[in-house]
Amino acid sequence: MQTNKLRVFSGIQPTGNIHLGNYLGAVKNWVERQDSYENVFCVVNSHAITLPQNPKILKEKTYDLCAMLLACGINPKKSTLFIQSKVQEHTSLAWLLTCITPMGDLSRMTQFKDKSQKNPKSIFAGLFNYPNLMSADILLYKSNLVPVGEDQKQHIELARDTAIRFNRDFGETFVVPEPLIMQEGARIMGLDDPTKKMSKSSSDKPNHSIALIDTPDRIVKKIKKATTDSEGIIAFHKERAGVYNLLTIYQCFTKQTQEEIESEFAGLGYGKLKERVAEAVIEGLRPIRESYEKLILEQDYLHKILDVGAQTAQKIATATYTEAKEKMGLI
Ligand code: AMP
Ligand code: TRP
Repeated sequence: MQTNKLRVFSGIQPTGNIHLGNYLGAVKNWVERQDSYENVFCVVNSHAITLPQNPKILKEKTYDLCAMLLACGINPKKSTLFIQSKVQEHTSLAWLLTCITPMGDLSRMTQFKDKSQKNPKSIFAGLFNYPNLMSADILLYKSNLVPVGEDQKQHIELARDTAIRFNRDFGETFVVPEPLIMQEGARIMGLDDPTKKMSKSSSDKPNHSIALIDTPDRIVKKIKKATTDSEGIIAFHKERAGVYNLLTIYQCFTKQTQEEIESEFAGLGYGKLKERVAEAVIEGLRPIRESYEKLILEQDYLHKILDVGAQTAQKIATATYTEAKEKMGLI
């Protein structure tokens, strides 16, 4: 992996079903920019256990998500794809970073506040320390850029602060990473409640999110039920969150400008809007679903790709972790 391209790192958790928000906010950008960067993508199963998981299901979901990322177009010839728990340096480096991160900084993380409010019975120290594991993921690979949805910006700010602090106190070691956030699609909202971001943790609500493996029928049904408003005007007005969200989804798939889309829908009603959004989503996801269905039957191929990915990641991770631990005086 010796190139002069900038290195990109990103991660995704193998919990729930990967949905349209994950795809449009993150994975699609990873795929489209594979040629421009040196890419490292990680299925972050150690992050997943910061909330209670069923072990058997977690294991299955981890492999399913790897297959889905390949189906979305992650190309193993251009990108390193691996499972986080296969490279132990992630948790080892997280410990070093935990020891130089103020509690106050972690307490400010909005995702911790949200997740602990939603799961009041399972607020464990791992959830609080989650951002340090994420910093470790990024810093281990001396990553320049981290493409994520907007919700992860605060975590990346923390990773930057941590890298700067470490470099200042122990000598130049880590690259200070930059977030790479796409404008349209950066935040896809729930179809049932467009004031809340589409999230895996709300996937128990039947009309909240569109999973990448949803059938065309289900997609049509969900979009038909999507919350809109009573204004009847189809335009990119941010304050009318439901219509805005549908238009954003449409824009991500059709790649038209906002003006083009507004003129396409001028004089039409929400029924037509929903019909066309559903068509665009179905056509956009069709090749992904078909490819996923094939890949999931080819477990040997999948495991081979993940083994190679873990080996490539391991080499970089060992070198960085050894450097960091020695700088802190560990033997
Ligand atoms: P997660 O589901 O938390 O593992 O997120 C994986 C990636 O998807 C991250 O880069 C998130 O920022 C992104 N993401 C998650 N939900 C959304 C959403 N509703 N809209 C846009 N991006 C999202
Ligand atoms: N915290 C991210 C999320 O919930 C997932 C993640 C873990 C990640 N480690 C990462 C994203 C490193 C980017 C880089 O979406």
